[in-house]
Amino acid sequence: MIETDIGADELAALQLERLQWTLRHAYANVPAYTRKFDEAGVHPDDCKELADLAKFPFTTKQDLRENYPFGMFAVPQDEIRRIHASSGTTGKATVVGYTEQDIDTWATVMARSIHAAGGRPGHKVHVAYGYGLFTGGLGAHYGAEKLGCTVIPASGGMTARQVQLITDFKPEIIMVTPSYMLTLLDEFERQGVDPKTSSLKVGIFGAEPWTEQMRAEIEERFALDAVDIYGLSEVMGPGVAQECVETKDGLHIWEDHFYPEVIDPYSEEVLGSGETGELLFTSLTKQALPIIRYRTRDLTALRPGTARPAFRRMDKVTGRTDDLIILRGVNVFPTQIEEIVLRTPALSPHFQLVRSTRGRLEHLTVLVEARHDASPADRDAAAASLVSGVKDGVGVTVSVDVVDPDTLERSMGKMRRIVDQREKP
Ligand code: DLL
Repeated sequence: MIETDIGADELAALQLERLQWTLRHAYANVPAYTRKFDEAGVHPDDCKELADLAKFPFTTKQDLRENYPFGMFAVPQDEIRRIHASSGTTGKATVVGYTEQDIDTWATVMARSIHAAGGRPGHKVHVAYGYGLFTGGLGAHYGAEKLGCTVIPASGGMTARQVQLITDFKPEIIMVTPSYMLTLLDEFERQGVDPKTSSLKVGIFGAEPWTEQMRAEIEERFALDAVDIYGLSEVMGPGVAQECVETKDGLHIWEDHFYPEVIDPYSEEVLGSGETGELLFTSLTKQALPIIRYRTRDLTALRPGTARPAFRRMDKVTGRTDDLIILRGVNVFPTQIEEIVLRTPALSPHFQLVRSTRGRLEHLTVLVEARHDASPADRDAAAASLVSGVKDGVGVTVSVDVVDPDTLERSMGKMRRIVDQREKP
Protein backbone atom coordinates (compact mmCIF):
# COMPACT_ATOMS: atom_id res chain seq x y z
CA MET A 1 0.00 0.00 0.00
CA ILE A 2 1.49 3.30 -1.07
CA GLU A 3 -0.42 5.53 1.35
CA THR A 4 -0.83 4.73 5.03
CA ASP A 5 -3.70 5.36 7.44
CA ILE A 6 -1.62 4.93 10.57
CA GLY A 7 -3.29 6.19 13.78
CA ALA A 8 -1.87 8.99 15.95
CA ASP A 9 -0.73 6.78 18.85
CA GLU A 10 0.76 4.21 16.58
CA LEU A 11 2.63 6.93 14.68
CA ALA A 12 4.02 8.49 17.88
CA ALA A 13 5.28 5.10 19.07
CA LEU A 14 6.87 4.39 15.71
CA GLN A 15 8.50 7.82 15.64
CA LEU A 16 9.99 7.38 19.10
CA GLU A 17 11.39 3.97 18.27
CA ARG A 18 12.86 5.25 15.01
CA LEU A 19 14.19 8.42 16.61
CA GLN A 20 16.01 6.43 19.28
CA TRP A 21 17.50 4.22 16.58
CA THR A 22 18.61 7.26 14.54
CA LEU A 23 20.28 8.98 17.51
CA ARG A 24 22.17 5.80 18.40
CA HIS A 25 23.12 5.15 14.79
CA ALA A 26 24.44 8.70 14.30
CA TYR A 27 26.28 8.77 17.62
CA ALA A 28 27.97 5.43 17.05
CA ASN A 29 28.94 5.86 13.42
CA VAL A 30 29.50 9.55 12.65
CA PRO A 31 32.39 11.15 14.58
CA ALA A 32 30.92 14.62 14.00
CA TYR A 33 27.75 13.57 15.86
CA THR A 34 29.72 11.85 18.64
CA ARG A 35 31.58 15.11 19.18
CA LYS A 36 28.52 17.34 18.96
CA PHE A 37 26.47 15.21 21.38
CA ASP A 38 29.39 14.96 23.83
CA GLU A 39 29.96 18.71 23.71
CA ALA A 40 26.27 19.33 24.38
CA GLY A 41 26.36 16.80 27.23
CA VAL A 42 23.66 14.57 25.74
CA HIS A 43 23.59 10.88 24.95
CA PRO A 44 21.14 8.91 22.78
CA ASP A 45 19.87 7.23 25.99
CA ASP A 46 18.57 10.64 27.12
CA CYS A 47 15.84 10.44 24.50
CA LYS A 48 12.94 8.84 26.38
CA GLU A 49 10.12 10.68 24.64
CA LEU A 50 9.77 12.68 21.43
CA ALA A 51 10.04 16.02 23.27
CA ASP A 52 13.53 15.02 24.45
CA LEU A 53 14.78 15.68 20.94
CA ALA A 54 14.92 19.38 21.90
CA LYS A 55 17.95 18.57 24.11
CA PHE A 56 20.04 17.55 21.11
CA PRO A 57 22.23 19.92 19.09
CA PHE A 58 21.31 21.28 15.68
CA THR A 59 22.95 20.26 12.43
CA THR A 60 23.66 22.91 9.79
CA LYS A 61 24.90 23.10 6.22
CA GLN A 62 28.21 24.13 7.74
CA ASP A 63 28.53 20.69 9.40
CA LEU A 64 28.13 19.02 6.01
CA ARG A 65 30.67 21.38 4.45
CA GLU A 66 33.22 20.80 7.21
CA ASN A 67 32.88 17.08 6.69
CA TYR A 68 33.04 17.28 2.90
CA PRO A 69 32.65 15.04 1.05
CA PHE A 70 31.68 11.85 2.92
CA GLY A 71 32.45 12.59 6.57
CA MET A 72 28.81 12.57 7.72
CA PHE A 73 28.07 9.14 6.22
CA ALA A 74 27.18 6.51 8.80
CA VAL A 75 27.77 3.37 6.73
CA PRO A 76 30.84 1.99 4.90
CA GLN A 77 31.31 3.32 1.41
CA ASP A 78 30.50 0.01 -0.26
CA GLU A 79 26.96 0.26 1.16
CA ILE A 80 26.41 3.64 -0.52
CA ARG A 81 24.48 3.15 -3.75
CA ARG A 82 24.07 6.77 -4.79
CA ILE A 83 25.50 10.23 -4.21
CA HIS A 84 23.70 13.53 -4.78
CA ALA A 85 24.99 17.03 -4.14
CA SER A 86 23.63 20.53 -4.12
CA SER A 87 25.87 23.15 -5.63
CA GLY A 88 24.91 25.95 -3.27
CA THR A 89 25.60 29.54 -4.11
CA THR A 90 28.61 29.88 -1.83
CA GLY A 91 31.37 27.53 -0.78
CA LYS A 92 31.60 23.80 -1.21
CA ALA A 93 28.78 21.59 -2.37
CA THR A 94 26.91 19.60 0.24
CA VAL A 95 27.14 15.92 -0.51
CA VAL A 96 24.53 13.35 0.48
CA GLY A 97 24.48 9.56 0.18
CA TYR A 98 21.90 6.78 0.07
CA THR A 99 21.98 3.05 0.78
CA GLU A 100 19.81 0.69 -1.22
CA GLN A 101 17.19 0.85 1.52
CA ASP A 102 17.35 4.66 1.57
CA ILE A 103 16.65 4.76 -2.15
CA ASP A 104 13.68 2.48 -1.61
CA THR A 105 12.37 4.65 1.24
CA TRP A 106 12.75 7.72 -0.95
CA ALA A 107 10.89 6.06 -3.83
CA THR A 108 8.13 5.11 -1.38
CA VAL A 109 7.62 8.62 -0.01
CA MET A 110 7.76 10.04 -3.53
CA ALA A 111 5.20 7.49 -4.75
CA ARG A 112 3.01 8.51 -1.80
CA SER A 113 3.45 12.15 -2.76
CA ILE A 114 2.49 11.58 -6.38
CA HIS A 115 -0.55 9.57 -5.21
CA ALA A 116 -1.63 12.35 -2.82
CA ALA A 117 -1.28 14.77 -5.73
CA GLY A 118 -3.76 12.69 -7.73
CA GLY A 119 -1.35 10.47 -9.67
CA ARG A 120 -2.42 6.86 -10.26
CA PRO A 121 -0.78 3.72 -11.65
CA GLY A 122 -0.87 3.90 -15.43
CA HIS A 123 -0.58 7.67 -15.60
CA LYS A 124 2.19 9.13 -17.71
CA VAL A 125 4.47 11.42 -15.71
CA HIS A 126 6.60 14.02 -17.49
CA VAL A 127 9.59 14.75 -15.25
CA ALA A 128 11.15 18.11 -16.11
CA TYR A 129 13.12 18.51 -12.89
CA GLY A 130 16.82 18.33 -13.69
CA TYR A 131 18.47 14.89 -13.64
CA GLY A 132 21.95 14.60 -12.21
CA LEU A 133 23.41 15.57 -8.87
CA PHE A 134 20.24 17.58 -8.13
CA THR A 135 17.72 15.32 -6.38
CA GLY A 136 14.66 16.55 -8.33
CA GLY A 137 14.84 14.43 -11.48
CA LEU A 138 15.89 11.05 -10.12
CA GLY A 139 13.77 11.47 -6.98
CA ALA A 140 10.62 12.06 -9.01
CA HIS A 141 11.61 9.32 -11.45
CA TYR A 142 11.94 6.50 -8.91
CA GLY A 143 8.76 7.55 -7.12
CA ALA A 144 6.69 7.61 -10.29
CA GLU A 145 7.99 4.17 -11.28
CA LYS A 146 7.26 2.81 -7.82
CA LEU A 147 3.67 4.04 -8.07
CA GLY A 148 3.32 2.20 -11.37
CA CYS A 149 3.35 5.20 -13.67
CA THR A 150 5.03 5.56 -17.05
CA VAL A 151 7.93 7.98 -16.66
CA ILE A 152 9.02 10.43 -19.34
CA PRO A 153 12.47 11.50 -18.10
CA ALA A 154 12.66 14.82 -19.95
CA SER A 155 14.95 16.57 -17.43
CA GLY A 156 15.32 20.37 -17.65
CA GLY A 157 16.10 22.48 -20.70
CA MET A 158 15.39 22.16 -24.43
CA THR A 159 12.11 23.92 -23.87
CA ALA A 160 10.73 23.65 -27.40
CA ARG A 161 11.23 19.89 -27.33
CA GLN A 162 9.49 19.61 -23.95
CA VAL A 163 6.36 21.15 -25.41
CA GLN A 164 6.55 18.77 -28.37
CA LEU A 165 6.90 15.77 -26.02
CA ILE A 166 3.94 16.88 -23.92
CA THR A 167 1.82 17.37 -27.04
CA ASP A 168 2.79 14.00 -28.53
CA PHE A 169 3.05 11.71 -25.47
CA LYS A 170 0.07 13.21 -23.62
CA PRO A 171 1.18 12.87 -19.99
CA GLU A 172 -1.45 13.42 -17.27
CA ILE A 173 1.13 14.63 -14.75
CA ILE A 174 4.03 17.06 -14.93
CA MET A 175 6.72 17.46 -12.26
CA VAL A 176 8.77 20.64 -12.63
CA THR A 177 9.72 23.82 -10.81
CA PRO A 178 6.91 26.40 -10.94
CA SER A 179 9.21 28.94 -12.60
CA TYR A 180 10.16 26.51 -15.38
CA MET A 181 6.44 25.77 -15.82
CA LEU A 182 6.06 29.47 -16.71
CA THR A 183 8.85 29.08 -19.27
CA LEU A 184 6.95 26.11 -20.74
CA LEU A 185 3.76 28.18 -20.76
CA ASP A 186 5.42 30.84 -22.91
CA GLU A 187 6.74 28.16 -25.25
CA PHE A 188 3.26 26.65 -25.70
CA GLU A 189 2.04 30.09 -26.69
CA ARG A 190 5.02 30.72 -28.96
CA GLN A 191 4.23 27.49 -30.81
CA GLY A 192 0.60 28.56 -31.12
CA VAL A 193 -0.67 25.70 -28.94
CA ASP A 194 -3.29 26.63 -26.32
CA PRO A 195 -1.88 25.23 -23.05
CA LYS A 196 -5.46 24.53 -21.90
CA THR A 197 -5.76 21.88 -24.61
CA SER A 198 -2.77 19.91 -23.27
CA SER A 199 -3.29 16.50 -21.68
CA LEU A 200 -1.91 17.69 -18.31
CA LYS A 201 -4.27 17.25 -15.35
CA VAL A 202 -1.92 17.73 -12.40
CA GLY A 203 1.31 19.67 -11.88
CA ILE A 204 3.56 18.79 -8.94
CA PHE A 205 5.63 21.90 -8.35
CA GLY A 206 8.43 22.51 -5.88
CA ALA A 207 12.14 23.10 -5.25
CA GLU A 208 11.53 26.86 -4.85
CA PRO A 209 8.98 29.11 -3.15
CA TRP A 210 5.79 29.97 -5.04
CA THR A 211 2.61 31.72 -4.01
CA GLU A 212 -1.15 31.13 -4.13
CA GLN A 213 -1.28 33.79 -6.86
CA MET A 214 1.18 31.74 -8.91
CA ARG A 215 -0.99 28.66 -8.34
CA ALA A 216 -4.02 30.55 -9.65
CA GLU A 217 -2.09 31.75 -12.70
CA ILE A 218 -0.81 28.28 -13.65
CA GLU A 219 -4.11 26.51 -12.91
CA GLU A 220 -6.09 28.96 -14.98
CA ARG A 221 -3.76 29.08 -17.97
CA PHE A 222 -3.15 25.31 -18.15
CA ALA A 223 -6.51 24.09 -16.80
CA LEU A 224 -4.84 21.72 -14.34
CA ASP A 225 -4.52 21.19 -10.57
CA ALA A 226 -1.28 22.67 -9.22
CA VAL A 227 0.05 21.17 -5.98
CA ASP A 228 3.14 21.82 -3.92
CA ILE A 229 5.94 19.35 -3.17
CA TYR A 230 8.71 20.04 -0.70
CA GLY A 231 12.02 18.46 0.13
CA LEU A 232 15.73 19.05 0.44
CA SER A 233 18.73 16.96 -0.37
CA GLU A 234 20.13 16.92 3.17
CA VAL A 235 16.92 15.30 4.41
CA MET A 236 16.26 13.09 1.34
CA GLY A 237 15.26 15.10 -1.74
CA PRO A 238 11.74 15.81 -3.01
CA GLY A 239 8.97 13.92 -1.21
CA VAL A 240 9.51 15.03 2.39
CA ALA A 241 6.10 16.73 2.28
CA GLN A 242 3.31 16.94 -0.26
CA GLU A 243 0.14 18.90 -0.72
CA CYS A 244 -3.00 16.79 -1.28
CA VAL A 245 -4.95 17.62 -4.41
CA GLU A 246 -8.35 17.40 -2.67
CA THR A 247 -7.59 20.15 -0.16
CA LYS A 248 -4.60 22.18 -1.43
CA ASP A 249 -4.12 23.51 2.07
CA GLY A 250 -0.43 23.14 2.79
CA LEU A 251 1.84 20.11 2.68
CA HIS A 252 1.45 16.92 4.68
CA ILE A 253 4.79 15.85 6.09
CA TRP A 254 5.53 12.13 5.81
CA GLU A 255 6.24 12.01 9.50
CA ASP A 256 6.89 8.30 9.71
CA HIS A 257 10.22 9.10 7.99
CA PHE A 258 10.94 12.78 8.73
CA TYR A 259 10.31 14.38 12.11
CA PRO A 260 9.64 18.14 11.92
CA GLU A 261 10.09 20.90 14.47
CA VAL A 262 9.73 24.65 14.08
CA ILE A 263 11.95 26.96 16.12
CA ASP A 264 12.34 30.66 16.61
CA PRO A 265 15.50 31.20 14.53
CA TYR A 266 16.88 33.72 17.03
CA SER A 267 16.01 32.33 20.47
CA GLU A 268 16.13 28.74 19.09
CA GLU A 269 13.10 27.79 21.24
CA VAL A 270 10.76 25.15 19.83
CA LEU A 271 7.51 26.81 18.71
CA GLY A 272 3.97 25.50 18.99
CA SER A 273 1.44 24.53 16.35
CA GLY A 274 0.56 27.43 14.03
CA GLU A 275 3.60 29.54 14.96
CA THR A 276 5.89 30.54 12.10
CA GLY A 277 9.61 29.97 12.38
CA GLU A 278 12.50 27.97 10.95
CA LEU A 279 11.78 24.39 10.00
CA LEU A 280 14.02 21.60 11.32
CA PHE A 281 14.05 17.97 10.30
CA THR A 282 15.35 14.83 11.92
CA SER A 283 15.45 11.76 9.71
CA LEU A 284 13.85 8.67 11.26
CA THR A 285 14.85 5.86 8.91
CA LYS A 286 17.85 7.01 6.92
CA GLN A 287 20.87 4.74 7.04
CA ALA A 288 23.58 6.47 4.99
CA LEU A 289 23.08 10.02 6.24
CA PRO A 290 21.16 10.24 9.48
CA ILE A 291 20.43 13.90 10.08
CA ILE A 292 19.56 15.37 13.48
CA ARG A 293 17.63 18.64 13.87
CA TYR A 294 18.77 19.94 10.49
CA ARG A 295 18.23 23.67 10.15
CA THR A 296 16.57 24.06 6.77
CA ARG A 297 16.45 27.91 6.91
CA ASP A 298 12.95 27.59 5.45
CA LEU A 299 10.19 29.54 7.16
CA THR A 300 6.85 27.87 7.83
CA ALA A 301 4.42 26.77 10.55
CA LEU A 302 3.17 23.30 11.48
CA ARG A 303 -0.57 22.60 11.64
CA PRO A 304 -2.78 19.56 12.26
CA GLY A 305 -3.41 17.20 9.33
CA THR A 306 -6.51 17.41 7.14
CA ALA A 307 -6.73 15.17 4.06
CA ARG A 308 -4.17 12.79 5.65
CA PRO A 309 -5.15 13.21 9.32
CA ALA A 310 -2.25 11.14 10.67
CA PHE A 311 0.32 13.62 9.45
CA ARG A 312 0.84 17.26 10.32
CA ARG A 313 0.93 19.86 7.60
CA MET A 314 3.38 22.66 6.98
CA ASP A 315 2.37 25.97 5.45
CA LYS A 316 3.65 26.71 1.99
CA VAL A 317 7.21 27.91 2.45
CA THR A 318 7.13 31.65 1.87
CA GLY A 319 10.87 32.13 1.93
CA ARG A 320 14.27 31.08 3.14
CA THR A 321 16.18 33.11 5.66
CA ASP A 322 18.85 33.29 2.89
CA ASP A 323 16.48 35.12 0.54
CA LEU A 324 15.41 37.64 3.12
CA ILE A 325 16.15 41.21 2.08
CA ILE A 326 16.14 43.64 4.97
CA LEU A 327 15.43 46.97 3.37
CA ARG A 328 15.74 49.88 5.78
CA GLY A 329 14.68 47.58 8.59
CA VAL A 330 11.74 45.98 6.82
CA ASN A 331 11.81 42.28 5.92
CA VAL A 332 11.07 41.59 2.27
CA PHE A 333 10.77 38.16 0.65
CA PRO A 334 10.53 37.66 -3.12
CA THR A 335 7.21 35.85 -2.60
CA GLN A 336 5.64 39.01 -1.18
CA ILE A 337 6.53 40.82 -4.39
CA GLU A 338 5.29 37.88 -6.47
CA GLU A 339 1.85 38.11 -4.87
CA ILE A 340 1.50 41.77 -5.75
CA VAL A 341 2.93 41.41 -9.27
CA LEU A 342 0.38 38.69 -10.04
CA ARG A 343 -2.49 40.83 -8.76
CA THR A 344 -1.57 43.56 -11.26
CA PRO A 345 -3.33 42.79 -14.56
CA ALA A 346 -0.83 44.23 -17.08
CA LEU A 347 2.16 42.46 -15.47
CA SER A 348 3.43 38.98 -16.33
CA PRO A 349 4.71 36.62 -13.62
CA HIS A 350 8.30 37.12 -14.84
CA PHE A 351 10.17 39.37 -12.45
CA GLN A 352 13.54 39.87 -10.79
CA LEU A 353 14.64 41.87 -7.78
CA VAL A 354 17.78 43.92 -8.23
CA ARG A 355 19.57 44.98 -5.05
CA SER A 356 21.80 48.03 -5.49
CA THR A 357 23.40 50.80 -3.45
CA ARG A 358 22.30 54.41 -3.72
CA GLY A 359 24.34 56.76 -1.62
CA ARG A 360 24.90 54.67 1.47
CA LEU A 361 21.52 53.00 1.34
CA GLU A 362 20.35 49.82 -0.23
CA HIS A 363 17.82 50.19 -2.99
CA LEU A 364 15.51 47.59 -4.49
CA THR A 365 14.27 47.64 -8.06
CA VAL A 366 11.60 45.28 -9.35
CA LEU A 367 12.20 44.42 -13.00
CA VAL A 368 9.00 42.94 -14.33
CA GLU A 369 7.83 42.04 -17.81
CA ALA A 370 4.62 43.51 -19.18
CA ARG A 371 2.04 41.10 -20.57
CA HIS A 372 1.98 40.93 -24.36
CA ASP A 373 -1.32 42.77 -24.66
CA ALA A 374 -0.42 45.66 -22.31
CA SER A 375 -0.45 49.14 -23.88
CA PRO A 376 2.11 51.82 -22.89
CA ALA A 377 -0.58 53.42 -20.71
CA ASP A 378 -1.33 50.06 -19.06
CA ARG A 379 2.35 49.66 -18.28
CA ASP A 380 2.62 53.07 -16.65
CA ALA A 381 -0.45 52.40 -14.57
CA ALA A 382 0.87 48.95 -13.60
CA ALA A 383 4.22 50.38 -12.50
CA ALA A 384 2.50 52.96 -10.29
CA SER A 385 0.15 50.35 -8.89
CA LEU A 386 3.02 47.98 -8.07
CA VAL A 387 4.95 50.74 -6.29
CA SER A 388 1.94 51.59 -4.14
CA GLY A 389 1.01 47.91 -3.67
CA VAL A 390 4.48 47.16 -2.28
CA LYS A 391 4.44 50.30 -0.14
CA ASP A 392 1.04 49.42 1.35
CA GLY A 393 1.47 45.64 1.51
CA VAL A 394 5.12 45.26 2.50
CA GLY A 395 5.92 48.70 3.88
CA VAL A 396 8.90 49.61 1.71
CA THR A 397 9.54 51.89 -1.24
CA VAL A 398 10.88 50.18 -4.35
CA SER A 399 11.45 51.29 -7.94
CA VAL A 400 9.60 49.43 -10.63
CA ASP A 401 10.85 49.00 -14.17
CA VAL A 402 8.27 47.44 -16.48
CA VAL A 403 10.24 45.87 -19.33
CA ASP A 404 9.21 44.33 -22.67
CA PRO A 405 7.85 40.79 -22.76
CA ASP A 406 10.48 38.03 -23.20
CA THR A 407 13.45 40.13 -22.06
CA LEU A 408 14.21 38.74 -18.58
CA GLU A 409 16.23 35.59 -17.99
CA ARG A 410 14.03 32.47 -18.04
CA SER A 411 14.18 29.69 -15.50
CA MET A 412 15.42 26.25 -16.57
CA GLY A 413 15.12 24.90 -13.04
CA LYS A 414 15.31 26.88 -9.84
CA MET A 415 14.73 30.52 -10.63
CA ARG A 416 17.26 33.16 -9.59
CA ARG A 417 14.95 35.88 -8.30
CA ILE A 418 17.51 38.17 -6.69
CA VAL A 419 20.29 39.94 -8.55
CA ASP A 420 22.81 41.50 -6.19
CA GLN A 421 24.50 44.63 -7.56
CA ARG A 422 25.32 46.17 -4.21
CA GLU A 423 28.71 47.80 -3.74
CA LYS A 424 30.89 45.63 -1.58
CA PRO A 425 32.14 47.52 1.50
O1 DLL B 1 15.02 21.34 -4.15
C1 DLL B 1 14.47 19.05 -3.63
C2 DLL B 1 13.23 19.16 -4.42
C3 DLL B 1 13.24 18.82 -5.76
C4 DLL B 1 12.04 19.54 -3.84
C5 DLL B 1 12.09 18.87 -6.51
C6 DLL B 1 10.86 19.60 -4.56
C7 DLL B 1 10.90 19.27 -5.90
P1 DLL B 1 17.61 21.19 -2.67
O2 DLL B 1 18.21 21.51 -3.98
O3 DLL B 1 18.47 20.61 -1.61
O4 DLL B 1 16.46 20.15 -2.83
O5 DLL B 1 16.94 22.53 -2.14
C8 DLL B 1 16.17 22.52 -0.97
O6 DLL B 1 14.70 24.24 -1.82
O7 DLL B 1 15.40 24.03 1.65
C9 DLL B 1 13.79 25.09 0.16
O8 DLL B 1 14.45 26.30 0.44
C10 DLL B 1 13.59 24.97 -1.32
N1 DLL B 1 12.33 24.25 -1.60
C11 DLL B 1 12.18 22.96 -1.94
N2 DLL B 1 10.86 22.70 -2.14
C12 DLL B 1 10.19 23.85 -1.91
C13 DLL B 1 8.82 24.23 -1.94
C14 DLL B 1 15.32 20.31 -3.59
N3 DLL B 1 7.86 23.38 -2.28
C15 DLL B 1 15.56 23.87 -0.74
N4 DLL B 1 8.52 25.51 -1.61
C16 DLL B 1 14.67 23.90 0.47
C17 DLL B 1 9.48 26.39 -1.26
C18 DLL B 1 11.13 24.83 -1.55
N5 DLL B 1 10.77 26.10 -1.24
